[in-house]
Amino acid sequence: MVNLNIKYKNIVERLLDEFSYKPELAIVLGSGLGDFVFSINVIKSIDTCSIQDYPESTIPGHEGKIIFGEYCGKKILLFQGRIHFYEGYSLNECILPVFVSYKLNAQKILFTNAAGGINSDLNPGDLMLATSFNGINIKKELASLIPLPSIAAKNNFLDFPSSAFNKIIISAAEAEHIKIKEGVYWFTKGPSYETPAEINMINKFGGDAVGMSTVHEAIYAGNLGLKVSSISCITNYAAGISHKKLNHSEVTETANLVKDKFEKLVKRVIVS
Ligand code: HPA
Repeated sequence: MVNLNIKYKNIVERLLDEFSYKPELAIVLGSGLGDFVFSINVIKSIDTCSIQDYPESTIPGHEGKIIFGEYCGKKILLFQGRIHFYEGYSLNECILPVFVSYKLNAQKILFTNAAGGINSDLNPGDLMLATSFNGINIKKELASLIPLPSIAAKNNFLDFPSSAFNKIIISAAEAEHIKIKEGVYWFTKGPSYETPAEINMINKFGGDAVGMSTVHEAIYAGNLGLKVSSISCITNYAAGISHKKLNHSEVTETANLVKDKFEKLVKRVIVS
């Protein structure tokens, strides 16, 4: 069905041995959004560095913790720290959080990320719900994880991201009076930010926001049958949209500014 290197299967098995916990929702926290864990009741927190062979988080703003938590009686699984392709990890490693979520029986997975705004309607500090993903430049690598017959057998992009889960997020934002914009999230491999010419191309091809994560994780999750949604925190104007130089500290600083809004929204999503 879906291939996973045996070494990583073993990591997941070891993790599962530690828990008899069935989360309803898994959340992958993106750059600068990791503080969300402080707003829920932490039942168990595991440092990923204590799990043998688990990929190490090397990026500031990604703690490297797997958290079993609870909020208003709802069980959630949080990944505070993401494994990025641009850190040199293989896709087998990048999708470990998704595989763990699937094995623990999570029905839904919410990806969150920091992204550069391309669409002129998107400004730093905005939240954007993904209406679709573009991962055209990572799909070849994904073929090693999701064999072709499995992709071909399913119309797996018909409801992707999940329209039902996206509706829940839109209603939660309305209930909290939070403005959430919508658009296409476009993946680039990184690690360097895009050039203005690349952003110009992405813009012409319908990308609204750009980031270096989520799409391969989301495609893998969709193939495993999880309901997928993704919220981007627009942390900066993409290259060439403004003439400001980009750097990772701007990304984490803006993410920090939207922390309260993000926290309120995600809490409402959890109880919806
Ligand atoms: N490009 C790629 N990834 C990003 C950006 C960006 O502008 N901002 C935050 N993550």
